[in-house]
Amino acid sequence: MALLVCVTGRDNSKLMAQLRVHLPGVDIREWPEGGNLAEVEFVLAWNAPDSLWQQLPNLKVVQSFGAGVDGIPLSELPPEVRVCRIVDPALADDMAQYVLGHVLAHKLRLPLYYQQQQQQLWRPKRASGGNRVGIMGLGQLGQVVAKKMQQNNFEVIGWSRSEKTLPGISQFWGAEQLHLFASQCDYLVCLLPLTPQTRGILDNTLFQSMPSHGVIINVARGAHINEADLLHALNTEQIAAATLDVFVQEPVAEEHPFWRHPKITMTPHVAALTSMKTAMAQIVSNMKAMQSNEPLSHCVDTTLGY
Ligand code: NAP
Ligand code: GLV
Repeated sequence: MALLVCVTGRDNSKLMAQLRVHLPGVDIREWPEGGNLAEVEFVLAWNAPDSLWQQLPNLKVVQSFGAGVDGIPLSELPPEVRVCRIVDPALADDMAQYVLGHVLAHKLRLPLYYQQQQQQLWRPKRASGGNRVGIMGLGQLGQVVAKKMQQNNFEVIGWSRSEKTLPGISQFWGAEQLHLFASQCDYLVCLLPLTPQTRGILDNTLFQSMPSHGVIINVARGAHINEADLLHALNTEQIAAATLDVFVQEPVAEEHPFWRHPKITMTPHVAALTSMKTAMAQIVSNMKAMQSNEPLSHCVDTTLGY
């Protein structure tokens, strides 16, 4: 039995060292030096190559190294393979601070004043009046973001797949209520998982439903946005601005029009970064649970995709 780490795009030396300390006696390998892959039962994955998954005939558990599992081809795995993710209240707090900070920045017109400072322009304006924040996805992160916005005197509305009741939040659900929801958002925050149902959901028809002063904050996945539709909506004043933390291609290509767009604020996928300490505890616990045939923590529903 072996544990394979296939976490790409980062330096894994600390991760590998800590796994070896916390899981003594376990055969831990790092992709692409996987050895005989028939021995691998547990994979720790982030941005793993598509070619990996067919090479693991005895796979039992896939543990995502983050909150999202969209990098794992859930529908292609055998149904008995369990897929788990990181769930961390501190990560949710980071996300809530990021969203609050960016909503306030737009409300106070800071992106505009940064640009005017470069041109030595003195053009005072009252902060914008809109106070309603709409959150798409009221899961582990969305609910914490909602609470933080309420604590800061914003009105919160939410949209999710299933009907739910949350204190003080007007709730919308299902495809048929999406546009009614969007029409009421001064700030629309995307915190959905990326699934076949949510891919490209921020598109032209949604932007058309929003008020023209509406601001998009996408902190979920780049592929939730139809990028050409976003540019069109900003350029034709269907919506006012966007803050984007996630992109279809990361890092964003040098020639991408988002970099220089005056109505787009970009950050490099930093809204809520996985904590090594929490991740380590959850990986180790799930590995031990698999070995002793006990229930795993934070498994996703592979048929729903999240
Ligand atoms: P979660 O707990 O699984 O919650 C997902 C929410 O989305 C649920 O409320 C769910 O509705 C809703 N949803 C799913 N499919 C839907 C659909 N088709 N229509 C409407 N609503 C739908 O997820 P989470 O932990 O909050 O994380 C959300 C995402 O944030 C992750 O998947 C990841 O992509 C992203 N993320 C980004 C960063 C960053 O740094 N930028 C960091 C961490 C996570 P129900 O409640 O009805 O099931
Ligand atoms: C980050 O984007 C995550 O899914 O944890």
